[in-house]
Amino acid sequence: MTNTDLKVNRPEPIKPGVEIRSFLQVTDIKETIDALLSGEYILIEDLYSNGLILLNELQSYLKNIHPNESFQEQREFRSEYRKLSNLILIQVKEHKLTVKKAPWIGWLEKLYPETNDFLLPFPQIQGLNSAWQWYNNGVIIPVIRNKVHPYYGVYFPTRFEHLQLFDNWLKRYEGPKKSAIDVGIGCGVLSLLLMKHGFQKSFGTDVNPNAIIGLKESMKGTKLSHKIEIDYGHLFGKWEKLTELIVFNPPWLPSSHDLDRLDEAIYYNDKLFPDFFVEAKKRLLPEGRIVLLFSNLGQITNVTKEHPIENELLNGGRFELDKCLKKSVKAASVKTKRNQHWRSTEEVELWVLKLK
Ligand SMILES: C[S@@+](CC[C@H](N)C(=O)[O-])C[C@H]1O[C@@H](n2cnc3c(N)ncnc32)[C@H](O)[C@@H]1O
Repeated sequence: MTNTDLKVNRPEPIKPGVEIRSFLQVTDIKETIDALLSGEYILIEDLYSNGLILLNELQSYLKNIHPNESFQEQREFRSEYRKLSNLILIQVKEHKLTVKKAPWIGWLEKLYPETNDFLLPFPQIQGLNSAWQWYNNGVIIPVIRNKVHPYYGVYFPTRFEHLQLFDNWLKRYEGPKKSAIDVGIGCGVLSLLLMKHGFQKSFGTDVNPNAIIGLKESMKGTKLSHKIEIDYGHLFGKWEKLTELIVFNPPWLPSSHDLDRLDEAIYYNDKLFPDFFVEAKKRLLPEGRIVLLFSNLGQITNVTKEHPIENELLNGGRFELDKCLKKSVKAASVKTKRNQHWRSTEEVELWVLKLK
């Protein structure tokens, strides 16, 4: 697929017409949850808030089954909740939700220009709604001067310690600044930091088509579109030229399931790091540097004992360590409902590697 006919990633519309139970304020909750458990679809009718009520009830029901103590339990709860809540549907007509007191969501027009009457899972509508607020209002990223307007389904940072590490490293960087490659560019924050520190060009890639579509849209007609070039593709995509700097803020957790597009920002498979290092070596100038942003999240939550960057340094035979900077992450707010005690020991890491 070429970059000009990228297919946007969006919640799959469901054709109306299937026989579906309705859920209104007066409907019996227990019967509805039983229907969900047996795999039936439920259609939210009348008021948008009916969808919120049903989701709340489903959440309480599942919380009793998964009391949410360990990280693993949290994952199981989320996976069950994801499966059942996605059976709760809501109708979209002429790019609007048909229920009363519903939010207006611009994505219904932007992502479904050709589809007029369809159903979507309620949690997807919630996701579209929040994503619209972020996109429309923009998100402030402290270390860069501009707000970013993340496109639907594209990862953007919500904590910034790793970006502060990178910003500080760039302040002291004395190497050439002709070009850099930004692997997994997302909504472009690392490339924007590179620009802030005087890099002339950045070549970005992403496997998420929405990242590419979103950046094309936001940079259109601006100076940035000449400075940041992007390609839809795995790891380095079409960028073959040697460069002095390769940056990658990869996913931080090993995957335990098949990945969808947004998950690919968070979970890595077995091949991602080994393939990255093989390909990075082919593109790094002799005095060049690789900068990887990482975290000890996988280790402190006991999801893995492995550290893919340490593995590479020990066994890869390609790179040696130039620098490793660490910064602890602010403990989660006491108001946070989920059990996140492990956050108190979380550290983000900036790894700088050079060729052996
Ligand atoms: C943690 S996010 C970082 C995004 C952005 N660089 C930032 O720092 O905000 C990781 C990004 O890498 C992308 N990604 C994951 N696997 C990839 C691969 N094999 N090749 C290219 N990009 C990938 C994801 O889609 C996601 O946008």
